[in-house]
Amino acid sequence: MKRIFLFFLSLALAEVSLWAYEPTTLQPLKSPDGRLEMTFKLWDGPGGDGHITYSLYRDGKPVVLDSRMGFTLEWRKSDLASGFRIRHIQFDSVDEVWHPVWGEESNIRNHYNEMKVDLCQDYYLDHEGKRVDKPTVMVIRFRIYDDGLGFRYEFPSEVAVDLNSGRAVYNSLVTFWLTDELTEFCLTGDHTAWWIPGDYDTQEFNYTQSRLSEVRRLHNNPHLTGGWPWKSFSDTGLQTALQMKTDDGLYINIHEAAVLDFPTMNLDLQVENGKRKVENNATQDSVSPLSTFHFPLFTLKVHLTPDATGYVGRLQSPCYTPWRTVQVCEKATDVLRSRLILNLNEPCALEDVSWIHPVKYMGVWWEMISDHSTWGYTNDFPSVRLPGDPSLPPSLQGTVTDYTKAKPHGRHGANNANVRRYIDFAAEHGFDALLIEGWNIGWEDWYGKDKDYVFDFQTPYPDFDLPALNEYAHRKGIRLIMHHESSSSVSNYERFMEPAYNLMNKYGYDAVKSGYVGRIVPHGEHHYSQPIINHYHRAIVEAAKHKIMVNAHEAVRPTGLCRTWPNMIGNESAMGTEFRGRINPGHTTILPFTRLQGGPMDYTPGIFETDMEKNAPWNRDLMRHTICNQLGLYVTFYSPLQMAADFPEHYEPHMDAFQFIKDVAVDWDTSIYIAAEIGDYIVTARHPKTSTLNLAADGVGELPDGKKGVVSNTAWFVYGLDGANGVNGLDGASPRDTWFVGGVTDEQAREVEVKLDFLKPGVKYEATIYADAKDASGWVSDVTIGWKAAQKEGYNPKAYTITKKTVTKKSKLKLRMAPCGGFAVSIREIK
Ligand code: NOJ
Ligand code: CA
Repeated sequence: MKRIFLFFLSLALAEVSLWAYEPTTLQPLKSPDGRLEMTFKLWDGPGGDGHITYSLYRDGKPVVLDSRMGFTLEWRKSDLASGFRIRHIQFDSVDEVWHPVWGEESNIRNHYNEMKVDLCQDYYLDHEGKRVDKPTVMVIRFRIYDDGLGFRYEFPSEVAVDLNSGRAVYNSLVTFWLTDELTEFCLTGDHTAWWIPGDYDTQEFNYTQSRLSEVRRLHNNPHLTGGWPWKSFSDTGLQTALQMKTDDGLYINIHEAAVLDFPTMNLDLQVENGKRKVENNATQDSVSPLSTFHFPLFTLKVHLTPDATGYVGRLQSPCYTPWRTVQVCEKATDVLRSRLILNLNEPCALEDVSWIHPVKYMGVWWEMISDHSTWGYTNDFPSVRLPGDPSLPPSLQGTVTDYTKAKPHGRHGANNANVRRYIDFAAEHGFDALLIEGWNIGWEDWYGKDKDYVFDFQTPYPDFDLPALNEYAHRKGIRLIMHHESSSSVSNYERFMEPAYNLMNKYGYDAVKSGYVGRIVPHGEHHYSQPIINHYHRAIVEAAKHKIMVNAHEAVRPTGLCRTWPNMIGNESAMGTEFRGRINPGHTTILPFTRLQGGPMDYTPGIFETDMEKNAPWNRDLMRHTICNQLGLYVTFYSPLQMAADFPEHYEPHMDAFQFIKDVAVDWDTSIYIAAEIGDYIVTARHPKTSTLNLAADGVGELPDGKKGVVSNTAWFVYGLDGANGVNGLDGASPRDTWFVGGVTDEQAREVEVKLDFLKPGVKYEATIYADAKDASGWVSDVTIGWKAAQKEGYNPKAYTITKKTVTKKSKLKLRMAPCGGFAVSIREIK
């Protein structure tokens, strides 16, 4: 039930003390279970400057100490962080259940208490320091859940009614420019953190686990094996979601939700020469005494990504910022269970979502990543020029590259024969879709050239027959996934977005993987700056008009927007499988606590051939995982878009293990987080959502006997179909109760016991257990030492066992994970 209380200020305030720094303290806002408590203070006592702080306590113990809030503005000497009075406060509370289009579970409870604090400055000082008597109103909306706090700043347009004229009084903030956000998170100690360095452009880094006090010393390490281009702003900068653990065992995660029309938030640890950093107008004294006195060193301040002109937000009221979030959990598994970020996003904005579906796909992709083949087509030219560039003078139009006359270098991956080979394999094994990269002209210049007019997203290379390949794929029940690498030339992608989406519609592509490799064009902008955040969003909204699902790589890390636009079925936005041997062991046991808090990741698991020398003789990378680790990821690492990323010929010798990838679902109605510790291991069980099992395959393809309708392999498994009735579709078939369990570990071997008490009582199931063999290991000390030397160290990534067992609700499975290993179990009701 929704309750709204309007409190008059006098009733809501606690006593005002005589001590100079004693603030006006509003009554605390408590979480529904009463354990979390947020307190808002206005430091307006005698001598106070009217600045504002919030704090967060759990079970009476501090999690975040009094921490500053607000902004500084262009064209104003006074800030948006002090000189406030409270006009009124308003309470609300919501308890509802919503149903995501796809997800880790089909019912999500959104249960919070809310407080809105309406703050006013009666005058401000303009850029020359002159007093302007106009009201400046900023509202802070706090929402507190059992698992955390969210707050955002809101800027209304109309702020009062003139009693004499009856006309609206407007906020002095009409169009305004932010120069800094002052929000802080004053932590209570030197917590352990799993962090990647703060950046304006990339999050493709390994994580470092360290105390906060060690951040500066270790700051460069993750850059050494990370993505490009990086633009670090401080040697104490950190990205969110920042996962921390206190010495008392509490899990604290700072992130943001619903980043729209606003730049991305980084955090900067406020330490300088062993003292708390003091920035902008703030002095040590004007910060509340608790934060400066007791725990000066462990304060994180918001650092927003500037645009090309240096502003960190160009706003127009009415408007609001993203939510700043502090998630607080008692157990690591509770972090995985938390839906805080999704809940703080707005409900689905799309009326018709029938065209959105989970996807299990393969790709002409790993070939290029591992250097077996290339995206580009020819080596004939030092650079290429595409037709139709409006910026060229007419006399240069004749210099356009004619690919039909170019000599192919013979290593182009997206050629007709190779694509057909992948379609055949994907169709034979019941996949939904196939991604093909390198199909369109321009790849010769895609990287490192900062070109504006780099692709047209419409013209295929001469050896890629787009209509014929589509027809071939659809007949076999496979949809092709379009690829749009923008090379970060955002202006060019916007130029071509509409015709590119139209082309997709014409040929029945319903999903696109986009990419933002390299420095942003327009030059000076960043992957995280407001204009580029707006671009990613426009791409999603425009795609939805064309019924297209989007999976963007190198775009900003997500903040739960997939709740509102569920056609955003994936993002990369972290170090993924493409980094091969450079990925630290345990990486995938950290990401679900950090990157995945904001939404699913296209991690592209399923690499069975870990020796990259097999893909390209000059490539000496060994990947640190076992085959069973890769299988486990399909369960521990949630995404509605899952890839089997390796080559068909690398699966062929291991079809028994590949069976798990074929069988596993990618959309769930229930998820159980059995055991986890950040950076160590994760064990998860999931129950498929049967209503979406076959959606990707529905309506595509024609079977050899002329019947329409294709059954995806997961549907075959869950419905327990045999070959004979499988081709007749799902009519008349009834699903069997099915569960999938997965586990992954870091370089430590581990044994775990999984109680199957989530199974239905009185039902017998068949469990198929894919486990690391006794002598399996994905660990090698140096990934470049080569296969033979690695074997001497015990590197044995392909050793697994597959066993079948009858199990019930009472059964317990003992499962051993090898170093860098894992396991996967499919459990299906016996009928
Ligand atoms: C980087 C992406 O992460 C990768 O998946 C893609 O293949 C290349 N860019 C080329 O677009
Ligand atoms: Ca990437």
